[in-house]
Amino acid sequence: MSVRLDTIRYGAEEIIFYEFEAITPAAFPPVSAGAHVDIGLPGGGLRQYSLITPLCSQRRYVIAVKREEHGRGGSRWLHDSARVGQMFDLSPPRNQFEVAPGTSPVLLLAGGIGITPIYSMYEHVRASGRPVHLHYWCRSEKHGLFLEALSDRSDVTVHYAASAEESAGQFAAVVREVSRQTEIYCCGPQGMLDHLERLGEELNAARRIHMERFQAAPAAAPSNDAFEVTLARSGAQVQVAPGQTILDALRDAGADVMYSCEQGLCGACEVKVLEGRPDHRDTVCSAEEHDRRGTMIICCSSSQSANLVLDI
Ligand code: FES
Repeated sequence: MSVRLDTIRYGAEEIIFYEFEAITPAAFPPVSAGAHVDIGLPGGGLRQYSLITPLCSQRRYVIAVKREEHGRGGSRWLHDSARVGQMFDLSPPRNQFEVAPGTSPVLLLAGGIGITPIYSMYEHVRASGRPVHLHYWCRSEKHGLFLEALSDRSDVTVHYAASAEESAGQFAAVVREVSRQTEIYCCGPQGMLDHLERLGEELNAARRIHMERFQAAPAAAPSNDAFEVTLARSGAQVQVAPGQTILDALRDAGADVMYSCEQGLCGACEVKVLEGRPDHRDTVCSAEEHDRRGTMIICCSSSQSANLVLDI
């Protein structure tokens, strides 16, 4: 979708809101809490940002971007060079981080800019009447987003942590005290997500934990063994060479496959696995969740079996 950058406004220290406006009579597709869009940047890069659904409408999509000094350059470009009136290409929204329906309590954990999907999810769950509690860690009041909107909510706790150790202690205490029925959703820096993963194992709660990462996990070693992928719809067989990704092998073979970030982050290349044992290496969701959904991410994951049959 071609969209116009309509408004740039201050969000918090190093965080800016960008509001994109529809320019055709057709409205934007509806967007659910936790969804993100891919934004095409000048120069050809694609970046994924969560939509802030309470601020979005059929004519407007809103994201918040934190300037990452040592990132891949997308946030620096948006902060330093984007201007009102500029045209961008946006993908339709995709949601890999939706709160699963149910009645069990929901614990939402956000660190830093990870508040953007979590805030949307909080407003959505709260409106549904389901019990929810949001814990939000940020460095100080001036680094926090949505603090005014959240200030009088009894189901919100904002933590200002001076050090990583301090926030890690608070974080572990919060996770340890929730009930065994509580579903846990978390978005934040790598360290927070890794910590939650460890706590999930310790508390035998991995199945109740759902995370979204803004950073790719450190690249896994590419597979040393060749394997074969069968495309179930056409019956075609494609060889994946050692060190090659399934996505690359399929593109080389002329298969029509969806992808975006090519880093195991966005979920665009998720496909159904009909046979075989994938070796999950993405950060879209946990290996357990992939196994439950019967899917894999073909831009970075590999295979433990000699053949994979994919629903392509
Ligand atoms: S292309 Fe983004 S996860 Fe594969």
